[in-house]
Amino acid sequence: MTNAKQIGLFYASTTGNTEDVAQLIAERLESLVQLHDIAVEGVAAMQQYSLMIMGIPTWDYGELQEDWQECWQAIAEQDFVGKRVALFGLGDQMGYGEWFQDAMGELHQLLTSIGATLVVPWPVDGYSFEASRALTDDEQYFVGLALDEDGQHGVTEERLDLWLPQVCQAFDLQQGG
Ligand SMILES: Cc1cc2nc3c(=O)[nH]c(=O)nc-3n(C[C@H](O)[C@H](O)[C@H](O)COP(=O)(O)O)c2cc1C
Repeated sequence: MTNAKQIGLFYASTTGNTEDVAQLIAERLESLVQLHDIAVEGVAAMQQYSLMIMGIPTWDYGELQEDWQECWQAIAEQDFVGKRVALFGLGDQMGYGEWFQDAMGELHQLLTSIGATLVVPWPVDGYSFEASRALTDDEQYFVGLALDEDGQHGVTEERLDLWLPQVCQAFDLQQGG
C-alpha cells in the first residue's frame, strides 16, 4: 500500500486558478483525495493510483500549460490500463473562445492512448465559445468538467457540486467517506 487516499488529484497551475479548484475538490472529498502538484512532484506517483482526477489549464492559444507540457512524455510512457480518470479544465471562453479548453482535450487524447478509462463528461450547455478540442464526438459534452474562473467564477462551486458526486459514482466511492 503506497498511499492511504484512494484518489490522486494531479494538477499544475500558472496563475493559481487550477490550484484553487484542486483545493476546493480536496476540501469536498477530504478523506479520499491526495493532491499532487506536478510542477513540484512530476508524475511518477500516478502509478500508485487506479483512480485519478487531473486538472489542466489551457494557455497561449490552445497550448498545454507549461508544467503539463514538461511531464507529457513521462505520462505517455506509462501504462494506464485499468485506471479511471476524471478531468477538469480551466479556460477563458470570452478571451480565448477559439481555443476554449483545448488542453483538456489533448490530455484526454493522451490518456486514452495509454489505456485509461475517462469518466464523467460535462454538458456544453451554459457556455459560449467558438471552438474547442475538448468536445466529445457529438459535440454535446466536454470530455471533463470545463471551468472558467475568468468569466464564470460564480458558478464554479455549483458545477463542482454537480460533477463531484458523478465522479464518486464513476469511481464506485461514497462521497465524504
Ligand atoms: C496569455 C493567456 C493565454 C490563454 N490561452 C487560453 C486558451 O487558449 N484557451 C483557454 O480556454 N483559456 C486560455 N487562457 C485562460 C486560462 O486558461 C485561465 O486564465 C486559467 O484559469 C488559468 O489557469 P491557471 O491559473 O491554473 O494557470 C489564457 C490566459 C492567458 C493569460
